[in-house]
Order: sequence, then C-alpha cells, then structure tokens
Amino acid sequence: MIVNVHQFVQWKEEGTAIAVLTAWDYLSAQMVNAGGADIVLVGDSMAMPVIGHETTLPITLDEMIYHAKMVRRAIKNTLVVVDLPFLSYQTSLEAALMSAGRVLKETGAQAVKMEGGHASMVEKIAATVQVGIPVMGHVGLTPQSVYQFGSFRKQGKSDEDAKRILGEAIALEKAGVFAIVLEHIPADLAHKISQRMTIPTIGIGAGPDCDGQVLVTSDLLGLSDWQPPFAKPYVNLREQGITAIQQFCENVHGHKF
Ligand code: KIV
Repeated sequence: MIVNVHQFVQWKEEGTAIAVLTAWDYLSAQMVNAGGADIVLVGDSMAMPVIGHETTLPITLDEMIYHAKMVRRAIKNTLVVVDLPFLSYQTSLEAALMSAGRVLKETGAQAVKMEGGHASMVEKIAATVQVGIPVMGHVGLTPQSVYQFGSFRKQGKSDEDAKRILGEAIALEKAGVFAIVLEHIPADLAHKISQRMTIPTIGIGAGPDCDGQVLVTSDLLGLSDWQPPFAKPYVNLREQGITAIQQFCENVHGHKF
C-alpha cells in the first residue's frame, strides 16, 4: 500500500520528520526512492536546472505530465506529488480541477501542489480537495510569482508580510491541504506557523523548526552550476561527472580504447 496523505499528520503528531525530495525522470526518481525519501515531488523547479529556463514560468502542464510519468514508473510505495505549473490553475476553478485531474489520471501520481494562499487560490484549492484530489500548499517564496516579488528573495521579513503569510497558511489548512511547503521565510515565522498547524510544514530555507524538509535533488547532488544560497549540496556530482567525461574524451583522443 502506498503511503497516504493522512499518514503525514500522524507523523507530525508523533514528531517523525518528513524527508521530501524532487525527481524529474526515471533515474532521479529511482535514486530518491532508494535513498528513502518519504515524498517524491515532481517540482516545476526542474524548469531551471533540468530544462534550462531562467524561471519556472515557462514549463507547461504537458511537460510536467511527461516528466511525472517517468517518475511514477520508478516509484512504487511512496507518495508522488506533482506541481501544477504557472497558468494551469490560477485562471478559474475549472482550470484548477481539470489540471489537477489530468495529473492524477495521466501520471498515476496521488497529489498535486499549488502555490499561493490568497483568497482566490484558497477557493481553488478547497474545490480541488472537495473533488477528492489531495493538495499540498506552498507559501512564502512562491517562485511562480518571481516577477511580482522582483527576485527570488526571502519573504515575510516585515511584520506585515509575516502576518500575511501566517494568514495564508491558516487559510490553506482550513481549505484542506495535507501539508504545506514554507519556502525562504525567516526561521521564527516558520516556527510560529509550524506550531499553529495540525498538518505538517515542509521547510526549504525556512530554518530548523518545520516538520520536514524539502530539497531540490539536483541541488543536493551538486549537479547544477547554480543553486540558491539556502540549498545544501551533499556531494559535487557535477565536478565528478565532468572529470569522468574529460578522462573518457582524453582516452578517446589518445586512442586509448
Ligand atoms: O518546484 C520545486 O522543486 C518546489 C520545491 C522547492 C518545494 O516547489
């Protein structure tokens, strides 16, 4: 039986921390599964390190579905959550339901993630949950709003902004999200939100007091040439890979094969 969304609330009650990692294809999904991730997120962040865009905005729903199918083929017993990309859910209730429904129907993933917690988004998330589709929320630095923020900078630094983010998290919990990502906000705000929620908070660049942590796997593996300041690489596979490739090319050029 696949880990289900209700289990995570129980884990929060028990104090069991939740490890969330992203995957974008069959190989990366096999690795995060073998490494023991509790949730595999097909994140639209792949638009940047994997697909080469400057922001997450250009990736389409069809592209997300294409990648989620690869990930799902590698994952048997772990929850797969897929990001709904920019403009696939913001425009209407119908768009949100159709996009979330397509993800579940076409990929075999069990849940979707949607960014934002303002009133019109809460309405769409509540409607999606009501038709039986589990939703993960995401507040703080929501990268699909990068042009509104002006950059990928920390959110919730002023009292007013912190209050807004706390209010959004509370509204999302009421709307029925099963967990909520807190991205790039002050640690004391993440602590406060985590204390208020009965659902787990999953932090990234949000301090140590969340109920779990998420990392973009290409950052964890040190695969890309750029990573956000709060991402912790555990290994430098980019450097190791380039060295191995150089050795191969030198061998071939030197007729050593
Ligand atoms: O797209 C993504 O990888 C994400 C995580 C950073 C939470 O949304």
